[in-house]
Amino acid sequence: MGVRARQHPAGIIDLSVGTPVDPTPAFIQQALQESSNAPGYPLTAGSVELREAIRNWALSKLGAQGDFDVLPLIGSKELVAWLPTFLESTHVLYPEIAYPTYRVGALLARAVETPVEIDPTNWPIADLAWINSPSNPTGRIHSTTEFRAALSWSRTNNSVLASDECYLEFGHGVTPISVLSQTDGDNTNVLAVHSLSKRSNLAGYRAGFMIGDPALIGRIREVRKHAGMIVSAPVQCAMIAALSDDAHVLEQRIRYVGRREKLVPALIEQGFAIEESRAGLYVWCTRGESAWDSVAWLAELGILATPGNFYGAKAERYIRIALTATDAEIDVAVSRLSQAPKSRSQNRDQ
Ligand SMILES: Cc1ncc(COP(=O)(O)O)c(C=O)c1O
Repeated sequence: MGVRARQHPAGIIDLSVGTPVDPTPAFIQQALQESSNAPGYPLTAGSVELREAIRNWALSKLGAQGDFDVLPLIGSKELVAWLPTFLESTHVLYPEIAYPTYRVGALLARAVETPVEIDPTNWPIADLAWINSPSNPTGRIHSTTEFRAALSWSRTNNSVLASDECYLEFGHGVTPISVLSQTDGDNTNVLAVHSLSKRSNLAGYRAGFMIGDPALIGRIREVRKHAGMIVSAPVQCAMIAALSDDAHVLEQRIRYVGRREKLVPALIEQGFAIEESRAGLYVWCTRGESAWDSVAWLAELGILATPGNFYGAKAERYIRIALTATDAEIDVAVSRLSQAPKSRSQNRDQ
């Protein structure tokens, strides 16, 4: 489909990859540059200043309570991929429509992997469960009841609950919450995973962190220390700068909201129903046809989207459209959609 979209005479608008395109804020670039003299090894645990910055952010932004520890990551993807190995997990649960790396992590650990519904009532016994709110790809957010049900499953089974919250600050008319605000101060077996890739347009730096159960984080830190999984010193300084500022996050949120508000009506006009899509960087939608038909139709317009099949068998009639394109590119996509002839399925309805 990429080939077809690329053949469009006016060029491709690639809305298939969730990679930020807006600049890394200048003050974060400056923090990186100013710490480029780094002859010594950085701490796996993170510098005192970085640990403090993460801790303060967890208290003020996430509403974390009780005893918790923090640990910087080389982006959150590596943790998603390696957590089951660190924990020697034997059975890993992850959402049935999900970011593919949860499954990859289970496979790397040679664990049994089971995709599950949001509601934990029927979850099998396992030693690790991933939840993801706001979700990639759907933009769905967990309610407090859903978080508490997942926590209760973890407590009943003495299993680790890992909550991937890397889109937390990009709610659209809603304020997504963290699992850490729902633990009532008992963070045993709970980990929240965060990333600055999207929040601060820092994907190229590789900067993430986790927050949660001090005993679990202590174990993971020890393995990472010996495995050389250390965030570079200049990136640690950039992270401190990024976490100490909210204004750039608000600016970015406004950008994504603007793009969403332009794209959504144009998609609806072409017969797409928008589902979930309450937060994060994606529009999750369906025209009731196979995802590949929707992707092919968009490719004729030179617009590249991702078929839901990439995120689970249950999503084979959905597509994911990323808002990670410039305002100008989104305008072009909207104008191509508006000028496109109505789809066959729509004409049938009329
Ligand atoms: C749900 C989810 N988790 C984790 C990641 C990894 O992000 P990073 O490694 O840049 O922190 C992504 C990236 O798109 C994601 O969508």
